[in-house]
Amino acid sequence: MCGIVGYSGGKNCVGIIMEGLKKLEYRGYDSAGIAFEETQGLDVLKAVGRVENLEKLVKSRKVKSNCAIAHTRWATHGKPCVLNSHPHTDCKGEVAIVHNGIIENYAELKAVLSKKGHKFASETDSEIIAHLIEEELKKQKDFFKAFVLAVKKLKGAYALAAAYKNAPGVICAAKKQSPLVIGKGDGEYYLASDVPAFLNYTNKAIFLEDGDLAKITPSSCEVFNLSGVKQNRKVNVIKWSSSAAQKGGYKHFMIKEIFDQPQATKDTISTLPADIKKAFGIAPAAAKKIKGLYIVACGTAYHAALSAKYVIEHFAKLPVEVETASEFKYRSINFQKNWLFIAVSQSGETADTLAALMNAKKAGLKTLSICNVVGSTITRASDYTVYTHCGPEISVASTKAFTSQLAVLYSFALHMARQHGVLGKAEFDKLYKEFQTLPELISQTLKDEQSVKKIAKEVYKSNSYIFLGRNASFPIALEGALKLKEISYLHAEGFAGGEIKHGPIAIIDKDMPVVALAPKGSLYEKMISSCQEVSARGAKLIIISNTPTKGAVLVPYSNEYLFPILAVIPLQLLAYYISDLRGREIDRPRNLAKSVTVE
Ligand code: M6R
Repeated sequence: MCGIVGYSGGKNCVGIIMEGLKKLEYRGYDSAGIAFEETQGLDVLKAVGRVENLEKLVKSRKVKSNCAIAHTRWATHGKPCVLNSHPHTDCKGEVAIVHNGIIENYAELKAVLSKKGHKFASETDSEIIAHLIEEELKKQKDFFKAFVLAVKKLKGAYALAAAYKNAPGVICAAKKQSPLVIGKGDGEYYLASDVPAFLNYTNKAIFLEDGDLAKITPSSCEVFNLSGVKQNRKVNVIKWSSSAAQKGGYKHFMIKEIFDQPQATKDTISTLPADIKKAFGIAPAAAKKIKGLYIVACGTAYHAALSAKYVIEHFAKLPVEVETASEFKYRSINFQKNWLFIAVSQSGETADTLAALMNAKKAGLKTLSICNVVGSTITRASDYTVYTHCGPEISVASTKAFTSQLAVLYSFALHMARQHGVLGKAEFDKLYKEFQTLPELISQTLKDEQSVKKIAKEVYKSNSYIFLGRNASFPIALEGALKLKEISYLHAEGFAGGEIKHGPIAIIDKDMPVVALAPKGSLYEKMISSCQEVSARGAKLIIISNTPTKGAVLVPYSNEYLFPILAVIPLQLLAYYISDLRGREIDRPRNLAKSVTVE
């Protein structure tokens, strides 16, 4: 997704802006650009490819400026090229804008503006915004007022920033459905799609809400709604240190984040006491009334939801429907009364998940979100929010957010079981105590990194991989396959162990590594049978278990419903090492974006 960075203050901000753009690289992008104030007015520089390309350009021009807006573009309308990259300007080059999102009515606005004589340089939907502001500035001189009038004409999603030659030091910003946050410094303000972009300079963040319009100058930041009413937005103090957003000595963010998991789950679990009101904000009386759950998410978060279905059904005996958000929103569901809707999302900005949540809200359901990003759109739209406390997850491939989501959902399952009288106090306390050892169990699991690295060396030349699991570990097989395909670009598929004989076994041969998850418990023998079926076809078998099993990578013993949270770790490591051996660009896999803020 596109990234926005802006600055207005007393410093020469070009370096700050370049640094900010680099911090947003995780969002995925194909080109970058900057509009900056200089003595003659506004100047714009753009480059296709990495931010470094833009940086070289900026350095060669010896740019100095106290106010700038900049952008990393992830192409939606029009191919990646200099003309389509942002900032876009009006006909006279006096207004510059950067935009993240999609303007749904851009074609019709463009037709109207063309009739009025506006000339367009790009194929983008975004460019019309600069021309709309230009048009409004013909009617009245106040930049912010003209900006507001232009924004009122937009339909769709936007995080938007604009600068104007005749309003030095002023940045106008607007937000609807795409994230935008303002950083408050001393005699300076920052603007960004995400906090890490300015965290090296300030930890004071003002999260804009949908419908907000902000006027930023070096000394002020005023927020209004579309009707011109002033909005009070609180200044949040962000506790993530800037170094938490760095690689911390690891080769890639992904491997750092895999090793962050003991701390991430520890920080998450420490906010989940054995009291449902304190942990989830849900009063016991309200929890008792919950008769079932819809859990909706995308990608890795969806796999967390799917695994949780088995855990919740097992412990709490409640019905659970899990669906990918992109499908959920199209279903004609006769929503059950007294069912709780849960949205799971690392970023809290995933457009599909947000749309599904809004549908559930419209149907009158209570909503709970499990998110990692404080103040993100999904959290603000939900009745209840529980945060995973992972710190920023920079690698596009999600790892620590996943295990923390599983931890929150496991805790939720135990709480619901207790509230619904399925677990007695003693049983609940025993299970909760075991749950609280999870960070330590993850630490122990990570100690066996070398076994997985060795296996990766043996199998990394294979072009196709299969992952098998049953029950709560079946979604972990799906996640193992997703992780591998995302970062290695190799074919990988996950199946329920029992399904293999219904078709997939046809493709198994000696060139196909098969990873099987076999926890000690009710389905261990069945899983071992599946393993025998595939090894009889010559497959290279990799077993992950928590009980001594020939040739298996062992994770510490826990009950079979905690096993998935440990079993995914060797799978993350396997995906990482195979991809590293293949020389892939692990943290920024091709075609993928960290945060998918368009439907
Ligand atoms: O931010 P979210 O958790 O809502 O993101 C959902 C998916 O887009 C995300 O999990 C995606 O599948 C990751 N690339 C997985 O590694």
